[in-house]
Amino acid sequence: MEYSFIIPAFRNSIIPKVCQDNLLMQKITISDLGKYVGQEISLQGWLYNKRSGGKIKFLVLRDGTGYLQCVYFKGNVTEDIFETADRIGQETSIEVTGKVKAEPRAPGGYELDATGLKVISEAHDYPITPKDHGIEFLMDHRHLWLRSSRQVAILKIRHRIVKAIRDFFDGNGFTLMDAPILTPNAVEGTSTLFETPYFDLGKAYLTQSGQLYGEAGAMALGKIYTFGPTFRAEKSKTRRHLTEFWMIEPEVAFNDLNDNMDLAEEFLEYVVQTVLKEMEEELKVLERDTTKLKNVKKPLPRITYDEAVGILKKSGSQFEYGNDFGGGDETIISEQFDRPVMVHRYPAAVKAFYMKRDPGNENLALAVDVLAPEGYGEIIGGSQREDDLNKLLERIKEHNLPQEAFEWYLDLRRYGSVPHSGFGLGLERTVGWICGLEHVRETIPFPRMIYRNTP
Ligand code: 4AD
Ligand code: MG
Repeated sequence: MEYSFIIPAFRNSIIPKVCQDNLLMQKITISDLGKYVGQEISLQGWLYNKRSGGKIKFLVLRDGTGYLQCVYFKGNVTEDIFETADRIGQETSIEVTGKVKAEPRAPGGYELDATGLKVISEAHDYPITPKDHGIEFLMDHRHLWLRSSRQVAILKIRHRIVKAIRDFFDGNGFTLMDAPILTPNAVEGTSTLFETPYFDLGKAYLTQSGQLYGEAGAMALGKIYTFGPTFRAEKSKTRRHLTEFWMIEPEVAFNDLNDNMDLAEEFLEYVVQTVLKEMEEELKVLERDTTKLKNVKKPLPRITYDEAVGILKKSGSQFEYGNDFGGGDETIISEQFDRPVMVHRYPAAVKAFYMKRDPGNENLALAVDVLAPEGYGEIIGGSQREDDLNKLLERIKEHNLPQEAFEWYLDLRRYGSVPHSGFGLGLERTVGWICGLEHVRETIPFPRMIYRNTP
């Protein structure tokens, strides 16, 4: 009881003024303006844009939560303020004061009848202007490019996707489990490993996937998901490949391949429908046609690798049975469906060592890839795992992997092995697909690709 009396007094009298100003609730943001119509307020942000019309100046303020047109009438403000409004350049940081007016025609629905203008830090010659810039120039200025309305919309949708992913798993009894980044072995083939010296122990590798650790977690907790950065020294320069990307990897004890596909479709429906419902404004900024996204509802079509090859042959493709699908093949297959398609039972030869073979045909792996529509290709890769110790040992030998490095992983088959399955969703490919972007480089704040590791 005492607390409720002590805390407010403490807040007002003991905390220095500067800290009080920084208490989150005390700052007004553009997204809050609805609560302040008719009141005089101050807001801080950056000058996004400006227009002039003789006795009137329009400054567009941005603060990360929205955009606000501030109207300065010559007669209403001092000469000094009018001159400042004229002088300051794009991205000058400012504090504006004025009365909030509802203005249905304005973006966001409000306008500021401005009376004050304070410059926090004046900027001139901001490199990114409203004219068109080439992609390399924008990538070189990625640290500034993030301030544009399009990039802000993408960052917000990425954040909402991450939250939907976590909400889905947290709400379904999964425990979040972090996997290590520095690892002693490969998961997804040795050709894409990033290597680093590691003290007296020789070498360590940046993780390609948290899966193997996730399997240990599933044996401890039943249902887990890992969510972290993963690394691939991909030599490919495509619109789908990053060298550093984020992956979400659920792993479930006692799930078989069908259960795994049930989980994947339920998960995708939840993520996409949540974003459609809650990020309408941002999707509009991106001019995303959401017609096809609305179809992302279960059940998702399930076809075998063999059936997918049939689709390719029918389309006149030269695809050779037994290969993995390339980006072009995935596009042809997914064009047959109005929603993501799950392709299962791939030739084991093109898949990872840990996948369980199909008891009905030992040449096939109990794998599933989910291909997104509209040419976005594989967003999920998963499988049922080999749970038999001797078979797994055989696979490790066939793949020329060092058995010692996998002894701990083999222990999972020595002590209470059970059927289990999981998958990995690539966050950036998912953001690219939902936002309708041409390239994954815009889906992550600071992309890492074969030819770029700056800024
Ligand atoms: O299909 P992948 O390689 O599967 C795994 O890593 C499994 N260990 C996952 C599991 O079963 N737990 O990768 C999974 C997903 C791909 O479908 C794709 O979305 C994304 O990760 N991905 C990439 N995204 C961007 N750049 C790259 N270089 C990617 N490589 C894979
Ligand atoms: Mg894959």
